[in-house]
Amino acid sequence: MTHFDKDRDVTAQQGMCGDVAVLVPAAGAGTRLGPGAPKALRLLCGETLLVHAVRRVVATFGVGCVVVSAPSTEVRAVDRLLEAVRASAPAVGISVVVGGTTRQASVAAALAAVPSRFPIVLVHDAARALAPPELIERVADAVRNGSPAVIPVLPVIDTITRVDDLGVAVGTVDRSSLRAVQTPQGFRREILVAAHEAAVDDHTDDAGLAEKIGVVVHTVPGDEVALKITRPLDLALAEMILARGVR
Ligand code: C5P
Repeated sequence: MTHFDKDRDVTAQQGMCGDVAVLVPAAGAGTRLGPGAPKALRLLCGETLLVHAVRRVVATFGVGCVVVSAPSTEVRAVDRLLEAVRASAPAVGISVVVGGTTRQASVAAALAAVPSRFPIVLVHDAARALAPPELIERVADAVRNGSPAVIPVLPVIDTITRVDDLGVAVGTVDRSSLRAVQTPQGFRREILVAAHEAAVDDHTDDAGLAEKIGVVVHTVPGDEVALKITRPLDLALAEMILARGVR
């Protein structure tokens, strides 16, 4: 497990001429969390998931730009929420755009707002609110060191099977070569732009889009703390993680 502390804010500011832009799609409804505010605006230990996520992003070395996609009705509210993060990391440009009806559309909207001086673009999820700076840095470093596209992955712990239309198991999948994919995912900027321009159908992540145009996607180790907060139990787990002192 990794720790997020004030010293890292200083590190981030040293990276003020950073080469990394991070897109944070946060326009999802979050219906699987139950009724309430859009998912990114749900509270975790008194702070929204979005603010947790962006605090960790701006504490990452090399990050100079963050673009958040917000629900169309919440752009001003999201912008206000981010004021405190802006104050803590004045060297990082943080902007908010209107998200789309799919995650892919929300990413595309944020990507269009990234200034051209950033050669590395990471795509994160506000829902992975506790993804630590070390993980974000690992992904950015892999791109910096020459990978065109990078995903953080974890081994799959459950047995996975395919089922047919009747719910009958039709084949257990060998899990030894399977990995669960997290965010942030990292790209050379031109690769991500090309992948989105070529997109014809909807994908749940950006590495999937990049694969479609023949890009080789490399992996780095993920982090259990970067769990995707989707269901009520995930929120309870995230609270426990924070209660254990992981920032
Ligand atoms: O729906 P899912 O859990 O895959 O969402 C992953 C991330 O994408 C979340 O941070 C969510 O806010 C974001 N999203 C978005 N625009 C949408 C749908 C999801 O920005 N239309």
